Amino acid sequence: MKTRILAIDENSLELAKSIINEGGLVAFPTETVYGLGANALNDDAVKLIYATKGRPSDNPLIVHVHKGYDITELVDNIPEYAKLLAKAFLPGPLTMVYNSRGVVCPTVSCGLNTLAIRVPSHEGAQKFLKYVGLPIAAPSANVSKHVSPVTAQHVLDDLDGKIKLILDGGKCTGGIESTVLDCTGDVPCVLRSGLVTRDMVAQVAGECDEYHMVECERVRSPGMKYKHYLPRCKTMLFDYEHRAEALKEYKICTARGERARIMCDEQVARDMEDAKILNLGGDENAVAANLYDKLREGERVADIIIAVAPQKQDGVMVGVMNRLSKACG
Ligand code: TXA
Ligand code: MG
Repeated sequence: MKTRILAIDENSLELAKSIINEGGLVAFPTETVYGLGANALNDDAVKLIYATKGRPSDNPLIVHVHKGYDITELVDNIPEYAKLLAKAFLPGPLTMVYNSRGVVCPTVSCGLNTLAIRVPSHEGAQKFLKYVGLPIAAPSANVSKHVSPVTAQHVLDDLDGKIKLILDGGKCTGGIESTVLDCTGDVPCVLRSGLVTRDMVAQVAGECDEYHMVECERVRSPGMKYKHYLPRCKTMLFDYEHRAEALKEYKICTARGERARIMCDEQVARDMEDAKILNLGGDENAVAANLYDKLREGERVADIIIAVAPQKQDGVMVGVMNRLSKACG
C-alpha cells in the first residue's frame, strides 16, 4: 500500500471521507498528537486500528467528534459539572468519559460500558471530522509502545505502507495527549494528565480527583498499565537535583564512544557545559510541545538519551513527567 501525505483541502478531505466510508484508516492532526482514525460505527474498521498499531486489545479508544456534534447520541447521564467543563475547555485537549449508550461498536471501548469522547480544537481535525460526519475512533498514530507522533513525518516513519492517507496539519502545538477525565461519578477524576490540569478542572467543577493505579486493582483506564512512549535507543532519567550526575554519565558515555544527548529544558541546559543537548525549551508548554519531537530526534541521532527532569513539577509538568518517566524510566 502506498501511503500519501496530503495537505488538508477539498481533494484530500474527499479522499479521506471515501477511505473512512470503506472501512479504512486515515491519520489526521490534532492539537495534541496525530490520531489514527476509523469509523467508530464499523467494527471491522476499528479492529483494523488495533491490528495496524499492534495495540493490546483491552486498551480502549477515544471517539473524536466535531464541534457542535450532539454527544447525547452516543452517551447519557452527563453530569452538570461535565457540561460546565465542556463549556470551559472544548474544543480542546480534554477527553471526557461517560456512560455509553452502546451506539458505537463495542471494540472501541473494549467491552467497557463507558465511552471516551474528545472534541479536538485543531482546525484540520475539525475540518476532517466535519467533512466525514461520523464519530471517529482514534488512538495516537504510532506503532504501539513507540513515541507518539507530532508531525506527519513521524506518522509516516511508523506506518509507511500500512495506511493510505496522512492528512498533514503541521506540527502539533500541544505535544502531549489529551487529559482523560472520568465523568461518570459525582466528582470528575483525572485518569491521564495532560494540558488541562487537575487544578483547571477543579476551578470549574468545584473539585477534581486524580486516579493513581493501585497494584491488583482493576485498572480504570486500561492504557495506564502498558509500556508507552519508548524511543528506540537506550535512555536514562535523572531528577533535577541529580543533574550533575547526568552530566557525569554523559561524559562517561561519550568517552566510551557512544553518541549521547542530554534532554532537558533551558534552565537545566545552562548547567550542562558543552554537552550536546536536546533542548525542550523554556516553559512548561514548550516542554510539552517539544517532548515527543525531541525523543524522536534523539533516537535518530543518539545511542543514548540522558534525560533530566525540569525543576518545576506541578501543572502541565505532571503530564510531562508522566510521559518522560515512561519513556526514559
Ligand atoms: O490527545 C489524545 O487523546 C490523542 C489524540 C489522537 O486525540 N489520542 C490518544 O489516544 O492519546 P490513545 O489511544 O493513545 O489513548 C487513549 C487513552 C488510553 O489511556 C485509554 O485507556 C483511555 O484513553 N480510554 C479510552 N477509553 C476509555 C474509557 N472508556 N475509560 C477509561 N479510559 C479510556
Ligand atoms: Mg497512544
